[in-house]
Amino acid sequence: MQNNVLILDFGSQYTQLIARRVRELNIFCEIKPYNHLPENLDEFSAVILSGSPFSVRAEDAPHPDLSDIRGKKPILAICYGAQYVAHFSGGNVAPSKTREYGRAKLAHVEADPFLKDIEVGSQVWMSHSDTIQELPEGGQLLASTHDVTNAAFKVEDERIYGIQFHPEVYHTTQGSTLLKNFLVDIAGLEQTWTPDAFVETTVAELKAEIGQEKVILGLSGGVDSTVAAVLLHKAIGSHLHCIFVNNGLLRKNEFEEVLHQYEDMGLNVKGVDASARFLNELAGVEDPEKKRKIIGRIFIEVFDDESHKVEDAKWLGQGTIYPDRIESVSASGGPSATIKSHHNVGGLPDYMKLKVVEPLKMLFKDEVRRVGASLGIPDERLGRHPFPGPGLAIRILGEVTPEKVAILQEVDHIFIQGLREWGLYDQVWQAGAMLLPVNSVGVMGDERTYEKCVALRAVESTDGMTADWVNLPYDFLQKTSNDIINKVPGVNRVVYDISSKPPATIEWE
Ligand code: XMP
Repeated sequence: MQNNVLILDFGSQYTQLIARRVRELNIFCEIKPYNHLPENLDEFSAVILSGSPFSVRAEDAPHPDLSDIRGKKPILAICYGAQYVAHFSGGNVAPSKTREYGRAKLAHVEADPFLKDIEVGSQVWMSHSDTIQELPEGGQLLASTHDVTNAAFKVEDERIYGIQFHPEVYHTTQGSTLLKNFLVDIAGLEQTWTPDAFVETTVAELKAEIGQEKVILGLSGGVDSTVAAVLLHKAIGSHLHCIFVNNGLLRKNEFEEVLHQYEDMGLNVKGVDASARFLNELAGVEDPEKKRKIIGRIFIEVFDDESHKVEDAKWLGQGTIYPDRIESVSASGGPSATIKSHHNVGGLPDYMKLKVVEPLKMLFKDEVRRVGASLGIPDERLGRHPFPGPGLAIRILGEVTPEKVAILQEVDHIFIQGLREWGLYDQVWQAGAMLLPVNSVGVMGDERTYEKCVALRAVESTDGMTADWVNLPYDFLQKTSNDIINKVPGVNRVVYDISSKPPATIEWE
């Protein structure tokens, strides 16, 4: 593939955002750590150098040899990247007098294809404590802000464009225009990376790779496994065998409803009701980690039993997505690159001896949704909130019993239905209810009650790594609390969780 952009990561917190902005322009890109230059450099038509938490002047900062790239491909050097170019090519990078962080306005803009449609007064986002005092050899000034003279420059002979600000962040209002100017007008990339094109290419590749062999895939009801299944189904039809396990810890009616939905999508899916087995093994267990381990182990056992019933299965399909696979650059621990390991179905044992196929492995979450829409998967499934693999077990604090699951399913149902009815569901990243291991005194009619307390949690987030509680309308909370206490026997108190992550987590266990 020639129409591909290489993003060299120097450890910036924004590197994935750069990739998402490039993909939003319908241009494919890959992120690689600065110290692991890919061998197939010929496949990339342009390179973007990311920012970094390091100062280019520090000895332990990333100082890779870029001679295989410089002068050979157009380069967009962002923040640290720009300072790197300046520092090693006759320019001067020095500490800023003040830390330059936050909004700034362009005060001077040269007429240049790189800055086409970018106006004086346009807002940009700065985040740096070093500044480029002198441009590199052959450098030409392209733009300045009031405080930063060398906010943008080019080295024409080498087709290098350097910018001190971050075009990838939302607060740089014309950031996408700038990226497009560089990628399309200067580097000549085509904007052909669309969901439809992805589906067409991937289906053809899957057909060629898998042929007539059989694939098994564990469906969770979530977006990733669903989209992976529909793509595989499009490629190999009934040779894809999907397994959807009811662990007894799903939301109210979810097993039946989701199973029907999968069947309506034409998937070859087997629903396996193992709820009794999960709940039996969880009896008496209070420790959250033990609960997780038991659920993970039984899932593997059930999945293993079921997959053995599919004769001659050669492949395991997984819904792994790109952020799970990006090699991350350590921002504090020196120039080491680590690879996150991730298994969507809880880490299947080696003895399964199946080849792994991961059709979504190059996609970001938002792209998975767009591909899902292009495949005709209903919005309701694609917009579903994340739901953890261990399900309600980690929302029932302490021991899990069938009675507690039944109570929490009712509470959760009222809350989630309410969010939908009030038009709030799509404004929330994830929501759910927790059943607390405390009873409190209440009064209903003339009777004293001593019943359970539930906590409602609704958060906004982009990836679950950080989250903040959602300011749900009081009227909604009031109605939901009333409905829960009136309709769910055994609950007499409802509280709303107003903790952010960090320091709290999204789930309570
Ligand atoms: P925490 O509670 O760590 O959750 O803030 C972050 C995100 O991860 C989900 N989560 C899990 N998902 N297995 C999963 O598949 C788990 O054991 C698990 N624990 C937490 C959680 O729902 C949230 O979206």
